[in-house]
Amino acid sequence: MIKSEEVRKIFLDFFARRGHKIVSSSSLIPYDDPSVLLTTAGMQQFKKYYTREKDALKDFGTQRTTSIQKCFRTTDIDEVGDERHLTFFEMLGNFSFGPVGTDDPEDFGIVGYFKKSAIYWAHELITKEFGLKIDYVTVFGGEENVPFDEESFKFWQNLGFSQDKILKKGREDNFWGPTGDEGPCGPTTEIYVDGLEIWNLVFNEYYQDKNKNLKKLEFPGVDTGMGLERLMKVLQKTPTIFETDLFLPLKEVLDKFSDNERRKRIIMDHLRGSVFLIADGLYPSNLERGYVLRRILRRLRLHAKFLNLTFDILEELIKKTIEKYSEFYPELKNFEKIKSIFFEELNNFENTLNRGLREFEKLIKENDSPEILGEKVFLLYTSYGLPKEISLELLKEKGILWDNNSEKVYQELFKEHQLISKGNNG
Ligand code: ALA
Repeated sequence: MIKSEEVRKIFLDFFARRGHKIVSSSSLIPYDDPSVLLTTAGMQQFKKYYTREKDALKDFGTQRTTSIQKCFRTTDIDEVGDERHLTFFEMLGNFSFGPVGTDDPEDFGIVGYFKKSAIYWAHELITKEFGLKIDYVTVFGGEENVPFDEESFKFWQNLGFSQDKILKKGREDNFWGPTGDEGPCGPTTEIYVDGLEIWNLVFNEYYQDKNKNLKKLEFPGVDTGMGLERLMKVLQKTPTIFETDLFLPLKEVLDKFSDNERRKRIIMDHLRGSVFLIADGLYPSNLERGYVLRRILRRLRLHAKFLNLTFDILEELIKKTIEKYSEFYPELKNFEKIKSIFFEELNNFENTLNRGLREFEKLIKENDSPEILGEKVFLLYTSYGLPKEISLELLKEKGILWDNNSEKVYQELFKEHQLISKGNNG
């Protein structure tokens, strides 16, 4: 069965043959883009080539690049544990900047291309190289100031798709970007295989400014992104992404400890994500991106505790992650550094967590009203240091509802508390 290592190679080679420069993934910590916390998409390191602040021809010798980008998205952090959500993932992408040439898919040169080449190549790669069947595709149907993407619709028709297999969608589904406050963005066309959206082709025709105004870019560009985990799922025909070879080395260890898939998925996702974040130089802290790392490490610790995993087992999982990924991502090779930051944070949290868990059990009752729940979770935080996210996770475990009223009470108390702390310090 085809492995992820081979899939990365097939993807990059396919586009390298078509004039693309293979560019390494950028760090998960964006180095010159203050508008985003972490790297969430492949195009991020190329933003300035779309706006012509940088010249792709000069930097890459071609207007075409391809990459496999490490991405970390915090938006779905609470959903992790189900069959498909992840924080960290790898995105396979091809990109075009600058003036568009003939846009002929037979043109394997170095000039910019647009919709036709992007769609034809995606189709060829998915159906011929990977031998998959596309269920259907979507295109931008037109909304507000952005017209229906008739060209993409026609190209899919030319490739043999009947009208009912080319769904027209609105801005919510088929318009992508920008990342952060401003940047390149545009209509998309998406490819579905086995019911999963696997590839998003973005046609960056616009620049959206901070006030959400769209203006046309001087030259339209291409930005595509295909999630490696999803692609592996359809290629390896596994029940979920967590049985693909990307997770299997971890899953095999965890399967010995539990049948609770949700817990195992949280541990796999958060462990892999934290290893990658630490390898890119991030430290756990109470601030912004450092807090993202702290949060996933703590949640990971909570679930590891429920499975009675020792630190030795966690160390084994780190080793297996490094074994699986460090050939492609050499920054992962520093096992000692990764291990020491990882366990330092877990050790620091250990007493707080143990005490917090005991107090939680004593304090929280199933028939607590939403308001009382808000107060109690606040108390657990201020008196015992138990982070709110951990309390909410524990409530979820018990099937106790945390609703808007609970959140409101918590926020009000939190604000008061902050004012008092500030007053005392001032
Ligand atoms: N930048 C696009 C995405 O992240 C491809 O989906």
